[in-house]
Order: sequence, then structure tokens, then C-alpha cells
Amino acid sequence: MNTALVRSLRSGASRITLPNQVALITGAGRGLGEALARRLAAAGARVALADVQGEAVTRIAGNIAQAEKRPTLALTADVTDDEQVAAMVRRTVAEWGRLDILVANAGIVRSAPLTELGAADFRLVIDVNLTGYFLCAKHAVPVMKEQGRGCIIQINSVSGRRGSPGNSAYVAGKRGGIGFTQSLALELAGYGIRVNGIAPGHLLDSPLWVDSLFAQYAARDQVSPAEIRRRYEARAPLGRACTYDDVAHAVLFLASDQAAYLTGQTLDVSGGEVM
Ligand SMILES: NC(=O)c1ccc[n+]([C@@H]2O[C@H](COP(=O)([O-])OP(=O)(O)OC[C@H]3O[C@@H](n4cnc5c(N)ncnc54)[C@H](O)[C@@H]3O)[C@@H](O)[C@H]2O)c1
Repeated sequence: MNTALVRSLRSGASRITLPNQVALITGAGRGLGEALARRLAAAGARVALADVQGEAVTRIAGNIAQAEKRPTLALTADVTDDEQVAAMVRRTVAEWGRLDILVANAGIVRSAPLTELGAADFRLVIDVNLTGYFLCAKHAVPVMKEQGRGCIIQINSVSGRRGSPGNSAYVAGKRGGIGFTQSLALELAGYGIRVNGIAPGHLLDSPLWVDSLFAQYAARDQVSPAEIRRRYEARAPLGRACTYDDVAHAVLFLASDQAAYLTGQTLDVSGGEVM
């Protein structure tokens, strides 16, 4: 390796930073959204955290502000509500004058075999996971157009790449998100706005799995939760679960100028599960 490169790596010069960039993260009240808000703030961004759970997001935004010694913004907003999403973007811009990075992360799961899946649950999943992404982008884009730059990142899933039994609503919404990302990328390329997605593998240490999915799948398949974990880890050729850091590294990359030539892509961060 050449010595200049070694020196630059040692000095941390190649680490991605986003100083003074304003990032808005939805679904930041727990799980991956919270982790991404923390990583973006640690990279120097000013972060606005939005969630339907106002108390949680206020507590987390306070923690981040304390840790980074920089103000943060906590916004109570339901991504399925046009007015609330408009207000969420307005508040961010009123506070910091711009919006550089939108991370459309809010998402929910409702699993059931087709004939047991209620229409209300199907609609809710599509509403949060797909319409929510549409509304956030719709209200962020005018600000980004005005700036002549911006970056939108949707948190997708391996389930956006292929079918999954008992998860038809989730898969349909995530798959739709990939098409939406491509269409937006085409529509916005001329405005300096890049639109990409990330399709994480299974975040087996996230509250979604620990508090709910392990027990559900174990009951369904009549095996132990530990066996479910082993099966899901084995799905990734790299042999382990996806972590928040795996996803955060991809978010920081896509948000940075190092990804200046990437748009319309959904990046698989699934240990090789999808290729
Ligand atoms: N956990 C995984 O294994 C995994 C894997 C791949 C992709 N993902 C995706 O990552 C994203 C985050 O997942 P997670 O595991 O952190 O989920 P989570 O359930 O832990 O957190 C989701 C957050 O979104 C919020 N939220 C839900 N509905 C909302 C709404 N209408 N408006 C605003 N906020 C709302 C919730 O209050 C919660 O704080 C989702 O899009 C999910 O599909 C998760």
C-alpha cells in the first residue's frame, strides 16, 4: 500500500464526516432509526429525529444532543399524515435553514398468511412503509430543489428483493419502495438530488426481533427462538446477522460526496444473502 494512503488511513482522514449537513431521520424513536440518528450526529450532522412516539424521540434527541454537545431536534410526526409530514419538514428548515439528507426509515411489519391477513393490516403496512416514504420525499424535495442538492435514502429490506411467506404486505410495500426510489432518482437527477435505498439483512439484535419476531417465528415453526436465530444467521453467506453499524456505514457513504455518482440504487447490505 502506498505510504500516503497508509498515513491518511491512520489519521482517520478517510473516515466519512458530514459537518453542518442537516439530516432528518424518520422512525428514530427506537431500533435502526435511533442508531442511524446517533451515527449521523457522530459524523457531524445536525439531526432532526421524527417518530410517531413523541416521548421516545424526545428522550433520544436529548441524549444525542448531550453526547455530541450540539443541538438536535425532536419531532412528533406520523409519516402517513400529509400535514404532519409537511410540518416535520417545515420545523427542520425553520430551525436550521436547510435539509440535506432525508432517511426514510419508519416502517412496520404485520405478518400473517394471506387468508388471515386483514385488509386493514395490509393497508396499514403499505401506508407506513410506502405512502410514508412518498410523503416524506414529497415534502423534502422542494427544499432540496431550492438548495440545488440533497440526498434521499430509503431503508428498504431483503424483503424488498424477494417474496417471503406470511409477509406479503411487507414485501409488497418494500418492493414498491425500490421502484419509487428509481422513479424519483430519474425525476430529480437534474436538480442535484440523489435518491437511493439500502436493503439491510436481518437485524437480529433489534427490538423488532428480540421483542417480537423470534417468539412469533418460534411458535409458528415449533422450534426454539435460538434455532430461529441460527437459521436466519445461516441465510447470510457471511454467516452472521446484520448490525446497525453495517447499515450506518452504507448510510454515511450514500449521504457523502463519495457516492456522488450513485442514484436510483438500492444497496444490499445483507452479508451476501441477496446477490
Ligand atoms: N429489524 C430488522 O431486522 C430490519 C431488517 C431490514 C429492514 N428493516 C427496516 O428498518 C426500518 C426500521 O426497522 P426497526 O427494526 O428499527 O423497527 P422498529 O419497530 O424497532 O422501529 C420503527 C420505528 O418507527 C416508528 N414508526 C412506526 N410507524 C410510524 C409512523 N407511521 N410514523 C412515524 N414513525 C413510525 C416506530 O414508533 C418506531 O420507533 C424499517 O423500515 C424496517 O422495515 C428492519
